[in-house]
Amino acid sequence: MSKILNETIEYINKRIDGFKPELGIILGTGLGGLVNEIEVAHQLMYSNIPNFPISTLEFHSGKLIFGKLGGKRIVAMQGRLHYYEGYSMQQITFPVKVMKALGIQHLFVSNAAGSLNPAFKKGSLMIINDHINLQHDNPLRGINDESGPRFPDMSEPYSKSLIKMAVEIAAQEQISCHEGVYVAVVGPSLETKSEYNYLRIIGGDAVGMSTVPEVIVANYLSLPVFAISVLTDEGFPDVLKPVSIEEIIEVANRAEPSMTKILSALIQKL
Ligand code: HPA
Repeated sequence: MSKILNETIEYINKRIDGFKPELGIILGTGLGGLVNEIEVAHQLMYSNIPNFPISTLEFHSGKLIFGKLGGKRIVAMQGRLHYYEGYSMQQITFPVKVMKALGIQHLFVSNAAGSLNPAFKKGSLMIINDHINLQHDNPLRGINDESGPRFPDMSEPYSKSLIKMAVEIAAQEQISCHEGVYVAVVGPSLETKSEYNYLRIIGGDAVGMSTVPEVIVANYLSLPVFAISVLTDEGFPDVLKPVSIEEIIEVANRAEPSMTKILSALIQKL
């Protein structure tokens, strides 16, 4: 373990009374409500954790939460870091390395994304089954610290068995849930009509500004990943309407209970 990571782990371990999380959760924009379902044991502010980047967005409260959800010991990141905020890819993905070092065996990720697929309407959910990285950077660039392979395989970055379980849960709960490809862009500007068109042509079903860096590092560390998007707006070039961050958050908040249901049930079933 690197000296920096070791320092962070030592700080955290001193404050969580031997709590050993089994899985990690990263909550996306407008999707922090899952936290209300957690039986909280410990909370640490990002700003107090050595070497932890601080979330700059006001709607991100920036806390690492330890507790129980669906009968499992979990650690949840309330407030995620985005590349567009100016952090490096290494900073954004440092918490994934921290959670892995704390012992997690699965990573769950949520985000808000724009729909590119005309069949996937605003307010619905999409389980991510693959991604395209258009963030023109990679968290694994640089010297390999040997905690994973130099050239990690990406043939199945999202666990097929977790996807299958989630699809079954959604069907049981009668929640309309799609499956598709997430394209990661830098942001923070949203897409032009031509960009939405392009992202659809290259194979995207949804577009967002997060998730892929964390998923790359999780795969590098051999952590199975489950990721789900709430589709908060429709990037359909012919009928494109202006979209604001307030609207994105409002739609995310509305769809959140369904997403929380799927995630909690999935975690319970593990
Ligand atoms: N584009 C990029 N990121 C997003 C969008 C979008 O349309 N919606 C939510 N996050």
